[in-house]
Amino acid sequence: MRKPIIAGNWKMNKTADEALAFVREIRNGLNNITSVESVVCPPFIALPTVSDALKGTRIAVGAQNIHYEDSGAFTGEVAADMLVPYCQYVIIGHSERRAYFCETDESVNKKAKQILSFGMTPIICVGESLEQNEAGETHNFVSQQVKAALSGLTPEQVATCVIAYEPIWAIGTGKSASAADAGLIIGRTVRGTVADEYGEQIAQLVRVQYGGSAKPSNIGDYMGHPDIDGALVGGASLKPAFVEMVQVTARVTA
Ligand code: 13P
Repeated sequence: MRKPIIAGNWKMNKTADEALAFVREIRNGLNNITSVESVVCPPFIALPTVSDALKGTRIAVGAQNIHYEDSGAFTGEVAADMLVPYCQYVIIGHSERRAYFCETDESVNKKAKQILSFGMTPIICVGESLEQNEAGETHNFVSQQVKAALSGLTPEQVATCVIAYEPIWAIGTGKSASAADAGLIIGRTVRGTVADEYGEQIAQLVRVQYGGSAKPSNIGDYMGHPDIDGALVGGASLKPAFVEMVQVTARVTA
């Protein structure tokens, strides 16, 4: 009952021209697949071009960040009303933004509220470091990230959110979590925390993705796990093989 969602986080890659050429290349392949939601998240500067190129398709567009205030003296930042014409989704709390740009649980929570109040959907990233993983702290740490990100949202809002479980040690490393391990954290920790806070019914509606070295050769394993509802894809989303990932997802979840 949860529609699978495969989102490409392009990070700081592709100029607007390159973005346009790429979406022209992949849009028919993605648009042919009706049972999976596909999302592309280019850099801010390419959003208008990409959104325009995808008009009339079922492919959604996402931003990679947002500011939580409506407007004002925040040099270099982008506000919700600037994104609304182009975006249905906004990625927040990515581990790279937490590590390099001072994103905190508190700002993630404010951003989630802002995104929802403008009618867009947050893709909220959570995930533990290698040290935390090895110390057996994954459950407590990720659970606390989920709680903090969703704090103060209504159950109805929570139900519409997408959460991406991205173990930091698996991002861009080629070292992916096993589908069983990822599925366990997603089911027990992410969905379990939502259930504790908002009830089982809401938890069953929230879509939770896996992220971290997801690619055409392993996406089928993740999508075969009943608790994993999709993937947030980095490196592999920059290539036409992204279409293959959505095709495999459609096949495995049919
Ligand atoms: P990779 O797929 O390149 O490991 O990146 C994952 C990621 O950070 C998506 O947000």
